[in-house]
Amino acid sequence: MAILPLVKAPDPRLKLVSQPVEKVDAALRAFMADMVETMYDAKGIGLAAIQVGVPKRVVVIDLDPQGPESKVLYIVNPELVWSSDEPNTYNEGCLSVPEFWDDVHRPAKIRVRYMDENNKTQEVEADGLFATCLQHEIDHINGLLFIDHLSKLKRNMALRKSAKMKRLEED
Ligand code: NI
Repeated sequence: MAILPLVKAPDPRLKLVSQPVEKVDAALRAFMADMVETMYDAKGIGLAAIQVGVPKRVVVIDLDPQGPESKVLYIVNPELVWSSDEPNTYNEGCLSVPEFWDDVHRPAKIRVRYMDENNKTQEVEADGLFATCLQHEIDHINGLLFIDHLSKLKRNMALRKSAKMKRLEED
């Protein structure tokens, strides 16, 4: 396993629409294991493949990485099949937008169909943090960041901060 370098905004790769996966094979499973290690190392609860520069519709999630409920979900080709009219607000952050958090409004409940690490079709209904996280990650594979849901003023603030952090890392 390996910790992969994270792609941080602003970066044109984060705007790419990722490609569907045909079949989960050993190579993809190994890549997903690296994604999980990278997510844990960065203290995230979700990671999309494009955040490590790979434009595939692949997501990993663990909502309780350090806790008793720790469980990794391997999510391939996720599709939002239903969402509630009722909204929910969550203070979101993103490993690709360091040191910035803001409230994002999204549907409170959703249903998502996806393929798991064994190529089996699964369907989950999600609410709370799980619903937020799934929608945030599905946005990633469609080339969107959570800051795209905010005002232009706030988005620019976040991008400036992220660009500055990147420069500091490179020095
Ligand atoms: Ni993110």
